[in-house]
Amino acid sequence: MNRPLIAIIGGTSFTTLDTLKITHRETLSTPYGEPSSPLIHGELGGQNVVFLARHGQHHTLPPHRINYRANLWVLHHIGVQWVVAVAAVGGIRADMEPGVLAFPDQIVDYTWGRHTTFFEDNLSHVTHIDFTEPYCPELRERLIQAARTLGIMARESCTYAATQGPRLETAAEIRRLERDGCDIVGMTGMPEAALARELGLRYAACAVVANWAAGKAFGVITMAEIERTLASSMIKVKDLLAQAIATLEPK
Ligand code: HPA
Repeated sequence: MNRPLIAIIGGTSFTTLDTLKITHRETLSTPYGEPSSPLIHGELGGQNVVFLARHGQHHTLPPHRINYRANLWVLHHIGVQWVVAVAAVGGIRADMEPGVLAFPDQIVDYTWGRHTTFFEDNLSHVTHIDFTEPYCPELRERLIQAARTLGIMARESCTYAATQGPRLETAAEIRRLERDGCDIVGMTGMPEAALARELGLRYAACAVVANWAAGKAFGVITMAEIERTLASSMIKVKDLLAQAIATLEPK
C-alpha cells in the first residue's frame, strides 16, 4: 500500500472530505495520546491523501482540548510530508470579509496552557526551532497558485492571531490584535504550526473567514452564522485542495 504524502487537517464544518475517494480508515495511538480522529485514507488530485478531523469526527473537541501533538506526530509517523490545515477564522482586516479564503504567512500566538513542543523531556540538548517564517513558503505558493488558477478570491498575505477560546473575543481584544498587526483570528493555528515545524513537516494553512471578528460588525456573532458561511465556502475549499494537492511531489 502506498503511504500518503499529503495530509489535510479539517477544522470547523470540515469534519469529512467528500471529494476524497476513501480507501480505508486507520486508528492509531501515539506516545502523546489519541489523535482527534481516525485517519481517513484516500485519493484526491491523483495523490494519496490522509484526512484528519481536528475537532473530532463529531466536532466534540474544543480548540484548547485538541491533542495537537498526537495529531502531528501520527501524520509524521505514517510518512506524511505536506500538511494543509483548513481552519475557520474571524476577519479583522477590512478586506477579510466572511466567505473569503486567506493564506496566512505570519502568526501571533496568544494561546496558553497547551502542549506546545515535542522538545521537553529526555533531551540530549535544548532545541530551538527557527520559526521566522511559520508556514512553508512552497506550500503557500501552491495554494496561492491554485486559487489564481481557479479564479477563487483569496488574500495571499496576512497575519493569523491564535487565541485561546473557546469563547470568541471581546471587541477590545480584537482592537488589540489589530494594533498588533493581526488580520485574521482563530483558535487552532497554534501550537499546530510550531509542532509541524518541529517534526519537519511542510505545513501551510487555508483559512476560511467565517464571520467578522468581534466589534467589526453590528450585533453578536452566532454559531449559526459561522456555520452558514463555512458551508457555502466549502465547495471552494475542496476545489482548491484538489488543485493544489495535484502539484505536490515527494521531497
Ligand atoms: N475568533 C476566533 N476564532 C474564530 C472566529 C473568531 O471570530 N471565527 C471562527 N473562528
